[in-house]
Amino acid sequence: MLTESQPSQTQLHVPADSPLLSPNFTFGVATASFQIEGAASERLENIWDRFCQVPGAIKDDSNGLVACDHYHLWEQDIELIASLGVDAYRFSISWPRVMQQNGQLNEQGIRFYLNILERLIAKNIKPYVTLYHWDLPQYLEDQGGWLNRDTAYQFKHYVDLVSQAFGDRVYSYSTLNEPFCSAYLGYEIGIHAPGLKSPQYGKKAAHHLLLAHGLAMQVLSKNSPNSMNGIVLNFSPCHSLTNNPQDIKAAQLADQHFNQWYIKPLIEGQYPALIDQIPFEHKPDILDGDMQIIAAAMDYVGVNYYTREIYQTDMQNGFEKVQQKNLPLTDMGWEIYPQGLTELLLDLHNTYKLPPIYITENGAAMPDKFIDNKIDDQERLSYYQTHLMAVDSAIRQGVNIKGYFAWSLMDNFEWAEGYVKRFGIVYVDYQSMQRTIKASGYAYRDFVSNRPHLINREVV
Ligand code: FCB
Repeated sequence: MLTESQPSQTQLHVPADSPLLSPNFTFGVATASFQIEGAASERLENIWDRFCQVPGAIKDDSNGLVACDHYHLWEQDIELIASLGVDAYRFSISWPRVMQQNGQLNEQGIRFYLNILERLIAKNIKPYVTLYHWDLPQYLEDQGGWLNRDTAYQFKHYVDLVSQAFGDRVYSYSTLNEPFCSAYLGYEIGIHAPGLKSPQYGKKAAHHLLLAHGLAMQVLSKNSPNSMNGIVLNFSPCHSLTNNPQDIKAAQLADQHFNQWYIKPLIEGQYPALIDQIPFEHKPDILDGDMQIIAAAMDYVGVNYYTREIYQTDMQNGFEKVQQKNLPLTDMGWEIYPQGLTELLLDLHNTYKLPPIYITENGAAMPDKFIDNKIDDQERLSYYQTHLMAVDSAIRQGVNIKGYFAWSLMDNFEWAEGYVKRFGIVYVDYQSMQRTIKASGYAYRDFVSNRPHLINREVV
């Protein structure tokens, strides 16, 4: 029940008239295949398996061989999701688990996901399926990965088979999760798999990723016309360190490279004007018709938000990221800046003609302490509180936002950071594989379970 009393510290609360309490607003939790599944021997090798073997690539020298062992514990994990009372679960399909190298489906892999889809539906939890959350089959990387245009067509083929196999069980598809990370972190600065480093690679890989998205949208509109189909992008508002015109220009430039480079072609079929300024060797190879494919109409755009970035001018690159002192930080060293989420959403709304928005990821890594069988993660709770209010504020100012997903359901393999950084609202003991709901998880559960339309339904 929504109580009239002063909320205690351990609750999430929004005003009674908040649009977040509308029956049409979806609340969910999110994960990704490589970060939780394990069972690596039952699928093809992927680029993260290979990258984890590079000395120093992963902070704690870990890998995804076992992860949260979700492959074996999926039934209890769905029970856990159901116990949180959420409307939806966002998870990703491991391409190397459902496809064989000969281009045919791996039936065992498909069965794994069909079981999950069917159980979610039986529990009245909407499946939000991400088709690519960074785990490219290694054999495709061996042929050039996302630098090879053919990978986009391989993706289309995979999406074609998988979406036919899933039939009408999927509520929403995202083609890609955060193509910026795949392209820039993976191929330009090499801190993510496959670990390539060249200023010439980032935008070429990005183009093939965006093309893959567009091709997949064609397939989805044929095979799965009734699901909501779109993409998930990450954004960090780019702020300038000072008001001096050069710093302002630097921040704008970073924004073009990191944020607008992805959303603009998807919505407007054009790269930002910056494309005319970058060196020829950095430019993507754009063939006739590519931009129309990329700009396929979408049912929604997923927005992932964690923090903002601050920039100053730099003679060589035009911009340079600044680490300011004395700012509130998460365990990732990312600034806690909830107003950046409102700003971002308003900005997107004012700049582009967008379909509805879902916040597909938001959350925080915090240095959790397991004391007396409890994790009292007040800092994470307060992160959720302020960011939910940031979404509330954006909706009140006219942005069409339809849902919010907490990253993450449970602690998991945080890419180059390994298992040390914990983003879960549920704690995972990696020895025993025990899951323990944190204070933030209980608060999220109480918040979503006590929304007025659910309370009323129970009364009726
Ligand atoms: C996002 C990723 C997600 C998770 C969070 C913390 O960039 O999509 O898998 O690692 O960051």
